[in-house]
Amino acid sequence: EIKKIFRETEKYADKEICVAGWIRSVRASNVFGFIELNDGTFFKNIQVVFEKENLANFDEIAHLNIGSSIYVTGKLVLTPEAKQPFEIKAEKVVVEGLSTPDFPLQKKRHSLEYLRTIAHLRPRTNTFSAVFRIRSLAAYAIHKFFQERGFVYVHTPIITSSDAEGAGEMFRLTTLDLENVPKDENGNVDYSKDFFGKSTNLTVSGQLECETYALAFRNVYTFGPTFRAENSNTPRHAAEFWMIEPEIAFADLKDDMELAEDMIKYIINFCLENAPEEFAFFSNFIDKGLLDRLNNIVTSDFAHVTYTEAVDLLLKSGKKFDYPVKWGIDLQTEHERYITEEVFKKPVFVTDYPKDIKAFYMKQNDDGKTVAAMDLLVPGVGEIIGGSQREEDYDKLVNRMKELGMNPDDYSWYLDLRKYGGTKHAGFGLGFERIIMYMTGISNIRDVSSFPRTVKNADF
Ligand code: 4AD
Ligand code: MG
Repeated sequence: EIKKIFRETEKYADKEICVAGWIRSVRASNVFGFIELNDGTFFKNIQVVFEKENLANFDEIAHLNIGSSIYVTGKLVLTPEAKQPFEIKAEKVVVEGLSTPDFPLQKKRHSLEYLRTIAHLRPRTNTFSAVFRIRSLAAYAIHKFFQERGFVYVHTPIITSSDAEGAGEMFRLTTLDLENVPKDENGNVDYSKDFFGKSTNLTVSGQLECETYALAFRNVYTFGPTFRAENSNTPRHAAEFWMIEPEIAFADLKDDMELAEDMIKYIINFCLENAPEEFAFFSNFIDKGLLDRLNNIVTSDFAHVTYTEAVDLLLKSGKKFDYPVKWGIDLQTEHERYITEEVFKKPVFVTDYPKDIKAFYMKQNDDGKTVAAMDLLVPGVGEIIGGSQREEDYDKLVNRMKELGMNPDDYSWYLDLRKYGGTKHAGFGLGFERIIMYMTGISNIRDVSSFPRTVKNADF
């Protein structure tokens, strides 16, 4: 395994090894040449040296195009003076698959914008190799974290008829059975019935369904894709993103925040421990302060501030914000960044938001104005978690739904949870791409999503 060889190079000195991989660059003179080879199992490249004297197919190899796949057999030689710790002196090179001269990833620095146009080839760059390995590792860490604590993984539906956030940002489904699609009296398609006679959409959150399992199993989580038809063309919003949503019964907002803090620290620790080379790379090439910031996060306590206090901090800051601050506004990115980057300089839980800017299911506080909500804001990214204690009072929930123009009959199953042995319960949603951005220092969600689905972007 190449990673092992990079980690314990001395052990492999002068040993014969065989690697298979893709050529990242070839340089050759008449008598010898160098190949940078990536074997796919690690983001670092292996230097291969080949000489005319002892390689029968020297000329063929010297003229290979970038992107070609080959097998190399040869002796591993330590190169303590060189940039790379070792090289392989090729004794045999076998060509597996040729590439052509128009291979889009030539040996130069390509911009992230350009690489987005070749999302099927960008995994063959060091940066994307490192980012998507971290994404995979983080997913593993999340399951490990919850499973070690006895949480049950619930698969919530992708197709649903509910709008968990009540924001109307759903992608509607249709059967495309144009002959039989329900029509109204004017012959227009009746979209309220177009999924086998029912109106459905792609889920915006698995929370409501997760609650049903929490009120049976106590501690559960879901982790899957979610979809939002929000027309926000920003570096932090995607139409398809993954969300981690735990739900805990017999628990309040404080328990919820403790769980969130433990989880974030666990994910970062696990990734730092298992992928130190990737993190060294990110902090060298993507974001200089990254390692200090991550180490700081796992060792210090997150800050807490109420929404009302946060608004006061913003008003007293003397800063001119593009979006004017007053009690009742939804905090904008510029406000979130000021709070977390300039006031606290670490992750901050903002709690007790005005009820009018939050979803119907949040537990109403005694002040009649705010709800037991929490958002976790982090430097560099802003909001990565949104959560709350849930309203467990049947009547209050029904009233709130009516105030918001929702039909309680559509959510009778959800209301049943309050009718049959309801309990205090809470949960949150972590945006998976957002924590990957946070951990890698990558500043655009399009570069941590394997096939980004953003406004005007679904080429594959
Ligand atoms: O704050 P949100 O909308 O909360 C919910 O969906 C709750 N039902 C979660 C729960 O309590 N179970 O979304 C949660 C998180 C946000 O903090 C953000 O990190 C991420 O999901 N998120 C997005 N990420 C990328 N693109 C988008 N369009 C996102 N919208 C939300
Ligand atoms: Mg939110």
